[in-house]
Amino acid sequence: MRLEGKTAIVTGGASGFGAGIVQKFQAEGARVMIADINGDAAAEMAAQLGAGALAHQVDVGDGASVQRMADTALTAFGALDILVNNAGVTHLPTPLENVTEDDFDRVFNVNMKSVYLTARAFVPHMKARGAGAILNVASTAGLSPRPNLNWYNASKGWMITATKTMAVELAPTGIRVNAICPVAGETPLLKSFMGEDTPEIRAKFLATIPLGRFSTPEDMANAACFLCSDEASMITGTALEVDGGRCI
Ligand SMILES: NC(=O)c1ccc[n+]([C@@H]2O[C@H](COP(=O)([O-])OP(=O)(O)OC[C@H]3O[C@@H](n4cnc5c(N)ncnc54)[C@H](O)[C@@H]3O)[C@@H](O)[C@H]2O)c1
Repeated sequence: MRLEGKTAIVTGGASGFGAGIVQKFQAEGARVMIADINGDAAAEMAAQLGAGALAHQVDVGDGASVQRMADTALTAFGALDILVNNAGVTHLPTPLENVTEDDFDRVFNVNMKSVYLTARAFVPHMKARGAGAILNVASTAGLSPRPNLNWYNASKGWMITATKTMAVELAPTGIRVNAICPVAGETPLLKSFMGEDTPEIRAKFLATIPLGRFSTPEDMANAACFLCSDEASMITGTALEVDGGRCI
């Protein structure tokens, strides 16, 4: 029960890595809001998890929607200890000059602007309490980018820089800010990175991961739990690679 008595929000919590993080946090004693644009999936998951899990529909790229999420969470929980900015999207593998403006804006809003919007909504609350842990789910794409995913890669590089500068600015207030950098993982998003899900493309991706397998929601959940728990009370501003050695 490493998160006993804590409260948490996991954006994009209804699928993939986010769902793994929600389940782990709940198993470790936290009350968790599953905040997702797919409200039905969030509600279904909350019903399965039972007591301590709460579903909320949010568009993390929209300021008014994020503020409603914050108001609902603070009314339900009283206080927020942990915020996980996990919701993320990508454009399909495309030469960088051919990505549409709509796709660029979607990646920008969901992967980057959301970090600003949730900070605006929760940092004043965390500052007032003198405590808080924020975790940004970035990517190895922000450290060791692959071609044809340029604007996605750049959004994750931005997220890693935001993590470090938030960490240094907020450290005196008792708020810790970290990131995890997952390598390609078995989630619904994987196909979008690969373009097509064929044995050849899978083999190409796997060949770049020294430990020889894709990452899993459990891998991310274990790293997230540690970084958001009091065990990591001396750790802030890190971007932890959970990548089977991909970035070596
Ligand atoms: N799967 C991978 O290979 C991989 C690798 C590195 C990093 N990541 C990152 O991990 C995070 C989670 O990805 P995943 O693979 O679990 O993806 P996923 O598609 O399984 O889950 C993403 C969730 O985010 C939700 N979402 C999308 N847009 C949203 C919005 N505007 N507001 C609220 N929720 C929204 C979706 O409904 C979905 O439930 C993302 O930030 C992604 O960039 C994934």
